[in-house]
Amino acid sequence: MRLARAIVLSGLRRVHSGRVELVENGERLLFGPEGAELAVRIEVHDPAAWRRFLRGSHGVAETYLDGAWDCDDLVSLVRIGAREVPRIDWLRRALLPLRRLLERVPHNTIGASRRHIAAHYDLGNELFATFLDETMTYSCAAFDTPELTLREAQEAKLERVCRKLDLGPGDHLLEIGTGWGGLAVHAALNYGCQVTTTTISREQRELAQQRVVEAGVADRVSVLLEDYRDLSGRYDKLVSIEMIEAVGWQYFDTFFRRCSELLEPNGLMLLQAITIDGRDYELEKAARSFANTYVFPSGCLPSLEVIGGCAGRAHLTEVDREDLTESYPITLRRWRENFIAARHRVAELGYDERFRRLWALYLCWCEGG
Ligand SMILES: C[S@@+](CC[C@H](N)C(=O)[O-])C[C@H]1O[C@@H](n2cnc3c(N)ncnc32)[C@H](O)[C@@H]1O
Repeated sequence: MRLARAIVLSGLRRVHSGRVELVENGERLLFGPEGAELAVRIEVHDPAAWRRFLRGSHGVAETYLDGAWDCDDLVSLVRIGAREVPRIDWLRRALLPLRRLLERVPHNTIGASRRHIAAHYDLGNELFATFLDETMTYSCAAFDTPELTLREAQEAKLERVCRKLDLGPGDHLLEIGTGWGGLAVHAALNYGCQVTTTTISREQRELAQQRVVEAGVADRVSVLLEDYRDLSGRYDKLVSIEMIEAVGWQYFDTFFRRCSELLEPNGLMLLQAITIDGRDYELEKAARSFANTYVFPSGCLPSLEVIGGCAGRAHLTEVDREDLTESYPITLRRWRENFIAARHRVAELGYDERFRRLWALYLCWCEGG
């Protein structure tokens, strides 16, 4: 334990991108420059955490879930960690072959995809309703100004998507990744198009179908429970918003080929994706991260280069690109604030303390990252 603590503290002594105050049994240690923009206070409750910290982000996450330590500002802690990562890049890259061998991320076959998606999206619609906006959109909003409400920013995003797709009453739109039906309802209501949308989460499909009926567009929207690989037909337009992260790197080409086959020759496709820097893509593929272990089993973020390569091989031509990066921390902050404000409700719904800590950490991790 003492050795593990000494190793972690020697790492902390090298921190220069933020101020870290560490408290254990009343003893207070300070690391990093005084007056730094980012400052956090960490309290270690259980000394067993030191040894587990040596396992990297997994150890840090697991000990947090177990309540072995607390931090007054998890988002800033993640930001400090993210800024320190480049300094240990050589180590991460040196360990890559070993991690490839030891940390096999399961393939997203059709059966595995259903299990992986159920593990996240079938946790309960009421859980997601505690932190998403009324449209139940679970992807980056479009905050043209940070003062917008989450709902306004999500509606602005849905509207922008429909406009980019140039939707009209004569169109049949295919959506891969329904969520809870926000876009399908918006498109059918405001643009009069026919929509076929698919999810592989049963819970999502049930609520999406209900919302379609409530919105009075059941004659124009059909909600399927089909994997993207099992879809057939031809559509004028295709949209997929933050679904590609669940595809798995082994299937990126399959995904784009399928999209291309499902589109009419002059069709238009819109993809919204969370991407990773091309330099980190090999690590993303090989290693089990906090996100793809605890939150989105077997997820993998594509890089822009990978998307471009797969789209090109599927004979899709890029005609427009927009960067929503600035809007994601705001979206995530709103989700986190909603989730924290609803913590009693989340507890009433039966989610235990460990689960609530996991989700708080997940939302902070993404926002800080
Ligand atoms: C992050 S959610 C985004 C939902 C929605 N597009 C939104 O913006 O709110 C990802 C969606 O992709 C769907 N999905 C994931 N893997 C899929 C697959 N193999 N086939 C079809 N849908 C899938 C999930 O069920 C979920 O509805």
